[in-house]
Amino acid sequence: MSTTILEMDNVTIRFGGLTAVDSVNLNIQEGTIRALIGPNGAGKSTIFNLITGIYPPTSGEIRFLGQKINGLKPHLITEMGIARTFQNIRLFGDMTVLENVMIGQHCRTKANFIGAILRSPGVKAEEKSIVEASLNALEVMELGHKKDELAKNLPYGEQRRLEIARALATNPKLILLDEPAAGMNPQEKQTLMSMINKIKSMDLTIFLVEHDMKFVMSLSDRIAVLDYGKKIASGTPAEIKKNPAVIAAYLGKEVV
Ligand SMILES: Nc1ncnc2c1ncn2[C@@H]1O[C@H](COP(=O)(O)OP(=O)(O)OP(=O)(O)O)[C@@H](O)[C@H]1O
Ligand SMILES: [Mg+2]
Repeated sequence: MSTTILEMDNVTIRFGGLTAVDSVNLNIQEGTIRALIGPNGAGKSTIFNLITGIYPPTSGEIRFLGQKINGLKPHLITEMGIARTFQNIRLFGDMTVLENVMIGQHCRTKANFIGAILRSPGVKAEEKSIVEASLNALEVMELGHKKDELAKNLPYGEQRRLEIARALATNPKLILLDEPAAGMNPQEKQTLMSMINKIKSMDLTIFLVEHDMKFVMSLSDRIAVLDYGKKIASGTPAEIKKNPAVIAAYLGKEVV
């Protein structure tokens, strides 16, 4: 039987007079790839910001594995097992690939200030496990051989994969990817697609925002469609492709 990993229950957020997310209900089943699509400004990234605790919802509830998470600080939500990438690349260009991944794990660090200065055995063990988790995540994203390069010297497609590696290294159960294929060439997209499938096979759940419809349709188990903050459709890729409300939201353009 499948488990619901994430539930959004009537979630709304208003920014001044704008209702960016409007009474959204959404369930994601563990071990699946769920996509969220919709025109620019529909509220997709805002939904990610709500789930990761950047904004509290104006009303409604968000539950992760049955536990209410809205109102929790972002670092606690990361600790519980939700990781994300951002729509725009957020890397430290002058740091190495490995360092960029390690930085994502400060949420797992227990060492206090004194322990860090004295480099106690506990701190050393912790450092070792952070390096190990980072190297593993880089291997998954096929960037292990580039660990000592500066992030800024990686080709664009690899920089985006590096961000996913950073999210993976926090050992999440659910990973939110905000337009991971944006700006990639077809070959880079193909590589990314196979890596996202690999992540799924590692027992992770993926919540994906993406404008590239071919990418979305071939990866997703289910798709939710957002327009002006409202969920207007939800279903399998085949159902979404022929949904009249979805076609209208995309101004009559064919979805695929
Ligand atoms: N912090 C904020 N303050 C005010 N308005 C905001 C804020 N964050 C988002 N918005 C507004 O909420 C709406 C939804 O924005 P959001 O970034 O979620 O859209 P999106 O679906 O991710 O679009 P895109 O596909 O262009 O990334 C937009 O009108 C945006 O201007
Ligand atoms: Mg966005």
